Amino acid sequence: MFLTGSPGTDASTQPAGWVPSLAVTTVAAGADRTVADPGVGRGPQWLEDFLRRRLADIIGLRRDLHAHPELSHRETRTTAMIEQWLTAAGISHHGLPGSTGVIAEIDGHGGSRRAPVVGLRADIDALPLREGSGLPFASTVPGVAHACGHDVHLAVLLGAALALQESAALTGPVRLLFQPAEEVMSGGAKDVIAAGGIDGVDLLFALHCDPRTEAGRIGLKVGPITSTSDLIELRLSGQGGHTSRPHLTADLVNALGMVITGLPLLITRRLDPQAAAVMVWGAVQAGDAPNAIPQEGVLRGTLRLKRRDAWDVAEALIRELVAGLLAPTGVTYELTVQRGVPPVENDSSATALLRAGAVAALGPDAAVDAEQSTGAEDFAEMLELAPGALARLGVWDGQSEQCDLHSARFVADERSIPAGIRLLVHTVLAAQADGRRVADA
Ligand code: NI
Repeated sequence: MFLTGSPGTDASTQPAGWVPSLAVTTVAAGADRTVADPGVGRGPQWLEDFLRRRLADIIGLRRDLHAHPELSHRETRTTAMIEQWLTAAGISHHGLPGSTGVIAEIDGHGGSRRAPVVGLRADIDALPLREGSGLPFASTVPGVAHACGHDVHLAVLLGAALALQESAALTGPVRLLFQPAEEVMSGGAKDVIAAGGIDGVDLLFALHCDPRTEAGRIGLKVGPITSTSDLIELRLSGQGGHTSRPHLTADLVNALGMVITGLPLLITRRLDPQAAAVMVWGAVQAGDAPNAIPQEGVLRGTLRLKRRDAWDVAEALIRELVAGLLAPTGVTYELTVQRGVPPVENDSSATALLRAGAVAALGPDAAVDAEQSTGAEDFAEMLELAPGALARLGVWDGQSEQCDLHSARFVADERSIPAGIRLLVHTVLAAQADGRRVADA
């Protein structure tokens, strides 16, 4: 089912309390949208009231998004739904020029001009894989699924935005970044940046679902929390020939073999072991006949690193090592290194604000230590422009098998949605209070 309302609908023409009619289109009549709230009763009262009134709608929105996943840069329905909810809430917003995704801002109700501008980012795209979760609201789009939990990220950000928009406690502006296309290179963070989404932002926060952490808990880490990921493609060519006379050719398969084993090894000897370089070839193609030396061959793989300083020198090092390995072989080559993103580097002050937010929102045991993952996240590109931090949002139900992100059977416990809303709201309030103290000092 596609949109039932007009994306450009003006909230001012709607009756008070109007909710977009498309919000729950795929939830079966009578379906229970009640979700246990891990932070219930922790306040403040206006947030309790907000969640009591609106949480079921937000859960419905999330299930609708989950049933209608959209691939990177094609999130048109998702974008229209975000805009409709923002319009209904009276939050000013605009789409990214020439792209999907939305930038919005809550003005802070004329609060202190010295309060920091807090940016909150959620990614909104899905993955090209077939869902096998068995959920009643599983994907209705063949071969596309929200298997990385970005539907949860979106619902949490929208819920926090609606709560903050209603709140008299907000004392400064909040920028809302609904980012498209996190799952591809080059990612949608660049589109948000190009559209001015980070301009004027003092502090940035984002969440990512973590299937190894229980719902109601928040994983935190100062410093790098994700890794780099670059794509490497090497195309070899040479004069083919008979395997009985390799000296008259360039033995291309042997040259491939030297790079296959040599490059991953040499990288670990030339980079600081703290960078934890993981270089793995995922594809190799060359030759057909057992007694013919082929003329062409291709290698493709990825390099992942845990440290930014290693990433800065990685491309030049790969080029040097490939040149050295192939020099004696006589083959010619074309090397492509597609740069991914640096690690997400969590700022210590921003992480402390998330910790304060987690404790206030979900209790003293809510904040747990997170490890640096070997996955990559283009939120890192935004953090090159403004300090901030990414937190891991627990989505494990505490009982089921833990299915990893990007798995067909990945399921997020929806208790993570009120938990995430509470976390973002408290973190924004803590950041504004902290910023005011700094400004007043
Ligand atoms: Ni993701």
